[in-house]
Amino acid sequence: MDYIKAVQDISHGSKLAKIYTFGCQQNENDSERIAGILSDMGYGLTDDVNRADFVVFNTCAIRENAEKKVYGILGSIKHVKEMKREMIIALCGCMANEEHNREKIKKTFNWVDIVFGTNSIHRLPGLLYERLQSKKQIISEDEDNQVHEGIKTKRQSKIRAGVPIMYGCNNFCSYCIVPYVRGRERSRSEEDILKEVVEAKHGGCKEIMLLGQNVNSYGGGGDNFARLLEHVSDTGIERIRFMTSHPKDISESVIKVMAERDNICNSLHLPLQSGSSKILKAMNRKYTKEWYLEKVDMIKSYIPDIALTTDIIVGFPGETTPDFEETLDVLGKVRFDMIYSFIFSPRKGTPAEKMEDVISDEEKKRNFERMLDFQNEISLQKNLVLKDAEEYVLTEGESKTNSDFMTGRTESNKIVNFKGDKSLEGEIVKVKITEVGTFSLTGEIKGLR
Ligand code: 5AD
Ligand code: SF4
Repeated sequence: MDYIKAVQDISHGSKLAKIYTFGCQQNENDSERIAGILSDMGYGLTDDVNRADFVVFNTCAIRENAEKKVYGILGSIKHVKEMKREMIIALCGCMANEEHNREKIKKTFNWVDIVFGTNSIHRLPGLLYERLQSKKQIISEDEDNQVHEGIKTKRQSKIRAGVPIMYGCNNFCSYCIVPYVRGRERSRSEEDILKEVVEAKHGGCKEIMLLGQNVNSYGGGGDNFARLLEHVSDTGIERIRFMTSHPKDISESVIKVMAERDNICNSLHLPLQSGSSKILKAMNRKYTKEWYLEKVDMIKSYIPDIALTTDIIVGFPGETTPDFEETLDVLGKVRFDMIYSFIFSPRKGTPAEKMEDVISDEEKKRNFERMLDFQNEISLQKNLVLKDAEEYVLTEGESKTNSDFMTGRTESNKIVNFKGDKSLEGEIVKVKITEVGTFSLTGEIKGLR
């Protein structure tokens, strides 16, 4: 049955949808696919939930506060739904694949109409049709672990596009919920990936971010990701980035391709998680502190000016303050351009949920703050090197804080604000860096590239 047409046939007049997206870039991309399907069914998009006929919560389960945020907003729109009975509310994404959340929605949030998992986006028209016909709450299960192609994408940005290359994760880091909610690794075909890159390029896109929980195991691992990178580079798209790379899998062949190709950005996100080999073992990360440092040396030997970023978890069960200081030691040695840091959040059903803490929450927080101070100084020092340098900046749009300024990113992914107007949007411009902060740079435009 053609459910897209069926939904169009039973819904009258113009309809609006509001999508809330939480979490990572994969979720952002999933939301763009949901928007594509909704537009095929005749829905326009709105930012105003009060005007929406269909509301989608694309959720994240990585930490407790991500889940809390979803329930908070969900609770706050209950009264909108009460006033507008025909409004349909759907919840999808990682929370939708957790049994305890499904139960909670059944019991406490029974006014949520449809729940569907991360690998059921293509089934949305069928589920919506079923809901419109039956008026019953629909809690669906992912039917398979396959890649589903042919879903139209309605992108948020014309300039930068996320392109998934694989879904799921096989690594089972002991703190992480992702393998449970996104299933086992499966890769898209190179043909489908390249087709999407070329289409985006023809639509004016300048930067592609290849997405996957562990892009280095694309196509089963080995040199497959390096070959894919070469072929994506051959499309001539201006800038290529990729994330995320598990340090245990990143190969010399990938770094060589990065070094050889001008359109692959010299920046790499390489999550460390902890600098203590003892904690890394408990996290099931499959590398040691020394091994990570050797990888970084290898990477810097090919690309000395590479911008490295990382993820760190503070307060993993069993982590003492001396263990935590091993993390500071690695931060001091690698000198990342930026870190994304999190306090450990126990996730239901993961091995780390049952592991015991050895220090208090206060001590964890103190360590966390200490790490931020330590890293901010490094980030500032690294940015200071760029003062008076000329950088190529891909202009993304108007600065949010000052409409006389445009904002964009260097190849190394640093934010740069500079005086300019909207005609520069999507252009790569040469900017001389005049002021330097910890999190962003300011500059003067010197010309187009
Ligand atoms: N608690 C805190 N941080 C987590 N991450 C993943 N799971 C957890 C958790 N349970 C962090 C990791 C990962 C990033 C996306 O989120 O650092 O790399
Ligand atoms: Fe989670 Fe580890 Fe998989 Fe990353 S590699 S998604 S941290 S299990």
